[in-house]
Amino acid sequence: MEYLKIIGNKEISGEVTISGAKNAALPLIASTILAKNEINIGNMPNVVDINTFLKLIGKLGGTFEKDENQVKINALSIDKTTATYDIVKTMRASILVLGPLLSRFGHCEVSLPGGCAIGQRPVDLHLKALEQMGAIIEIKHGYIQATAPEGLKGAKIVFDKVTVGGTENILMAAALANGETTIINAAKEPEIEQLCDVLVDAGVKIEGIGTSKLIIQGTNKELLEFKDFDIIPDRIEAGTYMCAAAITNKKVKINKVIPLHLEAVTAKLEEMNFEVIQDETSLTVCPTDEIKPVNIITTEYPGFPTDMQAQFMALATQANGTSTIDERLFENRFMHVSELLRLGADIHLNGNTATINGQAGTLNGTDVMATDLRASSALVLAALVAKGETNIHRIYHLDRGYENLEGKLTQIGADVKRFTE
Ligand code: EPZ
Repeated sequence: MEYLKIIGNKEISGEVTISGAKNAALPLIASTILAKNEINIGNMPNVVDINTFLKLIGKLGGTFEKDENQVKINALSIDKTTATYDIVKTMRASILVLGPLLSRFGHCEVSLPGGCAIGQRPVDLHLKALEQMGAIIEIKHGYIQATAPEGLKGAKIVFDKVTVGGTENILMAAALANGETTIINAAKEPEIEQLCDVLVDAGVKIEGIGTSKLIIQGTNKELLEFKDFDIIPDRIEAGTYMCAAAITNKKVKINKVIPLHLEAVTAKLEEMNFEVIQDETSLTVCPTDEIKPVNIITTEYPGFPTDMQAQFMALATQANGTSTIDERLFENRFMHVSELLRLGADIHLNGNTATINGQAGTLNGTDVMATDLRASSALVLAALVAKGETNIHRIYHLDRGYENLEGKLTQIGADVKRFTE
């Protein structure tokens, strides 16, 4: 297994360029199941989760060619409809093939994703919505067995809870359904907006893009003619590097971003007394005389993202005073707390609220363990300001979602090296 060795307190400065968004790319790769043509996708992040999803497309019978950040996918040849346990267990996002496979083939089997490190993460809302569209769903032998012998029909779906993956699955199912589907209480994340835009470019009529009410006119099983496209920049990767600048209290310019997607993150950094300079495609975080504490509640976009919670917790350890973080989306997304404690942080947990008593210069390097993707990036951030050497173990979590992390951090002056243990 590989680990990262980080020597803290190096001179950080310079520029970082952000890769394509993993969480936009995954549903977009799934959406190619709806296509009748070969599609070229640019700005594809070179991370493990993308390779896993492409492998799934291959297992279903599709073909792909990957060249760095460019991927060519032809899903027309898909002739299998089972997403097997061996893939789903390594990546929950595999559930995103459920909607497109069912709408194209009228049946499919997807291994039921289990719980994960950040919470139970059920998929009941995906299944209920598909049933409302006429699907018959049974859970047998650990698999979601879905059929729609007469095809999926448009329906009015009211999500009980805002769900990113659920909205994506139903959007893709609705694209080939018979008639009009309305999704109420839809997620509004930029990743969903891009999925809508790509489907619209492929000829699907969608109203309400970017809002919580989406109206989709299905093509009644007519496959779509996709246009080539580029993946949007990764707002969470960008936010993580903004925190790298903030925690080290140095100036770093983050290039190739959509600042609008980072408004909640930028606002919290400003509350913490950092100046953030914005232009059309970049954000520059500038150092401050005093890092102020902050109170954060995670919520759906455009609110503060749960995927940035762990990184801000690391940052709050360096603030002058007491911060609070209230995690409202996932029930178990505080696995990084015990590892931050090992580095010397003063954090108290009470249910879903963490109280962080911050003070600059209090962290000391040691061995810590990565537990999920964003928790791992919080440990990397903490290590940048910990005294001495921090070894971060189980970094395969980081490789799932951060392209060239060591390269990008090294470029801004950090001392980060990868070793095998
Ligand atoms: C997406 O997960 C992201 N993953 C997550 O990013 C992100 O943390 C999450 O959205 C929230 O923003 C991808 O885009 C691949 P949800 P998703 O359905 O779609 C509950 C990362 O680090 N829920 O919006 O799985 C659920 O348990 C990852 O990159 C149900 O109860 O999230 C959670 O509490 C981790 N029933 C809440 O809704 C359902 O059927 C939001 O989950 C579905 C969800």
